Amino acid sequence: MKIAGTGSVLPKKVVTNDMLSEFLETSDEWITTRTGVKSRHVISDEKLEDMAIEAANKALENAGMTAAELDFIICSNVVNEYITPQLSCIIQGGIGATCPCIDINCACAGFIFALDVAESHYKAGKVKNVLIVCAEEPTRMTDWTDRRTCVLFGDGAGAAVLTPGDNIKDVKLSSASATDKLWQYRTLQPTPYVNKEEIDVPLQMKGQDVFKFAVKAASKDISRALEASGVSTDEVDHYLLHQANIRIIDTIRHFLGQPEEKFPVNIHDHGNSSSSCCPILLDECNRKGLFKEGDKIVLSAFGAGFVSGAAVLEW
Ligand code: ACO
Repeated sequence: MKIAGTGSVLPKKVVTNDMLSEFLETSDEWITTRTGVKSRHVISDEKLEDMAIEAANKALENAGMTAAELDFIICSNVVNEYITPQLSCIIQGGIGATCPCIDINCACAGFIFALDVAESHYKAGKVKNVLIVCAEEPTRMTDWTDRRTCVLFGDGAGAAVLTPGDNIKDVKLSSASATDKLWQYRTLQPTPYVNKEEIDVPLQMKGQDVFKFAVKAASKDISRALEASGVSTDEVDHYLLHQANIRIIDTIRHFLGQPEEKFPVNIHDHGNSSSSCCPILLDECNRKGLFKEGDKIVLSAFGAGFVSGAAVLEW
C-alpha cells in the first residue's frame, strides 16, 4: 500500500511544565532535561471520538478521497469513554463510511500494528483503501498527583489513508509480555456473584525498565525492517520515532549513527500521545512539505505489553 493522505487534531488546552509545577512537586528544568517535554495538549471539553472523526476527515481530504471509497477502518486506541461500541464504529458513522471496521489496542505501537493489518489485508486481496485512525487520551489514565507519570503525556488523534501501491517496504512487529512494567486496572460493574478483590489503579510505570525496553526493541525492529527492505541506515531520509522521551530518541539515534536532522520531533510541545504520536508527527511533516517523492521513511514505536514495531516506507 501507500500513504495517500494524513490528518491530525490536538486538543486546544495547552499545559506547560510551569503550570504543572503549580500543583506538583516538579519543575520545568526536571521535566525538560529528563524527557524533552515543555508543554502538552490536554483534553478539556473535547470528546475523543470527535477529534478522531475530524482527523479522519482531514486525512480523507488530504488523500482526495471520500468515506464511501473506504474498504476498511482500523482504529488504534487504549482508552476512551465508550467501552462499547468500538471507536472505529463511531468514526465510521461520523465520517459517513459503510465499510467494516475494527479497533486494536497495541498501546503506543498501535499505528505500526495497524499498518501491518492494513498491508496484510491488501496483500490478501481483501481491501484497496484503508483508513487508520489513532485516537488517544492517556492524560485520563494517569494519577495527576503522581509526578512520575502525568508529566509525560498529552492527547491527540492522527489518521492516515492507505491506497494501492508498493510503498510499504516492510513491517516488523514484536511482543514480549511484561505486565508489571506499564499497566492500569479498572473495575467493572459489580454482580451478585463477584467476590474477588477489585481495585481501580491509575497508570503505573517502571520508567527505567520501559526506557531500556524501548531502546533495545526499537533498535532491533528498525535494523530488522531495514535489512528486510534492503535499505541501509544511511539511505533513510527521515526517522519518525514514538515521541515518548527525547533521551530514548537520542539513544536510538546514536545506535543507528544518524544525524539529528533526520529525526523530526514534536515531543517538546505535544508530550507522549501513545499510538497517536506516529500519525500526528507524520501528518505534521507531510503538511510542512518535509517529504519528497521517493524519500525513505522509518516509523518506529514501542509501548505497554510490551509491544513494538517498525515500518520502512517510500514516500
Ligand atoms: N519532577 C521531579 N522529580 C521527579 C519527577 C518529576 N516529574 N518524576 C520523578 N521524579 C523523581 C523521582 O521521584 C526520583 O526521586 P527519588 O530519587 O528521590 O526517589 C528521581 O526523580 C529519579 O526518578 P527516576 O524514575 O529514576 O528518573 P529517571 O531518570 O528514570 O526518569 C522517566 C524518569 C523520565 C520516566 C524515565 O525513566 C523515562 O522516560 N522512562 C521511559 C518511560 C516512558 O517513556 N514512558 C512513556 C509511556 S510508555 C511508552 O510510551 C512506551
